[in-house]
Amino acid sequence: MKIFSDIVLDKKSQQHLYMQLFNKIRQMIIDGKIKANYKLPAIRPLASKLGVNTSTIVNTYALLEKEGFVYKKIGSGTFVSAILTHKNEDDILQKYPLDEDIKLMDRGQMQIKKNMISFASATPTSDLFPVEDFKILLNEVLDRDKGAAFGYQESQGYYPLRDALVNYLKTYEIETNPENIQIISGAQQGIDVIAKAFIDHGDTVIVESPTYTGAIGTFRSRGAKIITIPILTDGIDVDRLEECIKNYKPKLVYIMPNFQNPTGYSYSLEKKMKVMSLAEKYNTLIVEDDYLSDLSFCSSDNTALKSLDSSNSIIYIKSFSKIFMPGLRLGFLIIPPKIHQKILEAKHTSDISTSGLNQRVFDLYLRNGMWKKHIKYMEDIYRERFEVMKSCLEKYFSTLQLNYSIPQGGLHFWFELPDGYDATKLYSQAAKNNILILPGNIFFPLAKGNRFFRLSIAAVKSKDIEIGIKKLAEVIEKMIGKDSKKEQKADAYTPLL
Ligand SMILES: Cc1ncc(COP(=O)(O)O)c(C=O)c1O
Repeated sequence: MKIFSDIVLDKKSQQHLYMQLFNKIRQMIIDGKIKANYKLPAIRPLASKLGVNTSTIVNTYALLEKEGFVYKKIGSGTFVSAILTHKNEDDILQKYPLDEDIKLMDRGQMQIKKNMISFASATPTSDLFPVEDFKILLNEVLDRDKGAAFGYQESQGYYPLRDALVNYLKTYEIETNPENIQIISGAQQGIDVIAKAFIDHGDTVIVESPTYTGAIGTFRSRGAKIITIPILTDGIDVDRLEECIKNYKPKLVYIMPNFQNPTGYSYSLEKKMKVMSLAEKYNTLIVEDDYLSDLSFCSSDNTALKSLDSSNSIIYIKSFSKIFMPGLRLGFLIIPPKIHQKILEAKHTSDISTSGLNQRVFDLYLRNGMWKKHIKYMEDIYRERFEVMKSCLEKYFSTLQLNYSIPQGGLHFWFELPDGYDATKLYSQAAKNNILILPGNIFFPLAKGNRFFRLSIAAVKSKDIEIGIKKLAEVIEKMIGKDSKKEQKADAYTPLL
């Protein structure tokens, strides 16, 4: 109770007392000062300690519950939920708790059995990596640059590569110059460097809900207050975005306008324009994470927000992990000139520079046409998988009680189970049948989303998609059809770690 009696509320403030208290308790949970399953003080004693009406505490607890920070046990009280902390998808995949009876876990490591079909991984399998081409170019760089290839590289990145990227970006109608490009060791580092440059403890960041787990972890590790805005099938709820920008004055808005992770949804052009106009109107920095726009299969509208950015409000992040080789740890940022110095400093204190050797090889890759060949190869493979997935969903999923919509491209498909069902249970049932799916709650910053799950086609061969989707449909049908809703009802929260 001590930690609660130290709370000070400002009775003269314009902000309602229950909102003040909500923010304080919420922050204590995010900071880990009160842990999962901790019982919150009873209403009356807390009200008298803080000198407020009991209705203030009731309203606070109701809001905390609504936002997923606490759960109630009838007759026992209000308890802190297990909210997500700094974890990335792979960590969570490896440590995700399974039912005790599933013997697929080997001390914290997910054993993917030989015959297991994984719709969980969003990373291409290594058989798709252009190893032979890379070997040729690696030798060329070593013959050409000798030891210089192993020296410290300029923090901003190898100049010829930045120059080659300017050319590459013209394909996406993005006009920039080498001075505005910052090479990074993967998009995750890009998010981290941006957060380091702009976010201090207590600053606000707006993200889509659901969103990329690695971004949640990074913003949280900087002590940011995370405000979430629902993403709809045609992009973020722009009205809510405007309201939140006005009310919270965020340091950053982090979004994925094309083939969002995890939903696969893309913003309509109209929404992209609206986001741009909000950025200009409120002078807000928008971070556009473009990790997949190359994979547009059903629409020609994969316009990058950056290509619409006449006011230089967008920090653009590009990863090559999903279309090239994730282990190369290579990506880049396009940075508005006014914030260039801050980013450069943050990058320098992160790792001084991205591997010069990898940058030099990738530079040749872009310049000699091998890149175009490789992208075409990846596009063809993913397009085929995408088409197979689409027709399998039509064949096996369309009669199921699931909510989903087919994206315009990318690698992810997003599903919602009916009310009262839990995707972590589906995960366990599917795993028993050698199918791996990714439960959706890891993508919600505020412990929600038990009913959602994501299927990715990055690591599943076309021939396995049909086998996997057919089996998964049977598992879903059995789960929804057989068990009574009461038995399957989701717990108030789902412990993840
Ligand atoms: C949306 C998004 N951004 C960034 C990343 C990190 O990519 P990288 O491997 O380039 O660090 C991922 C990886 O899955 C992602 O899905």
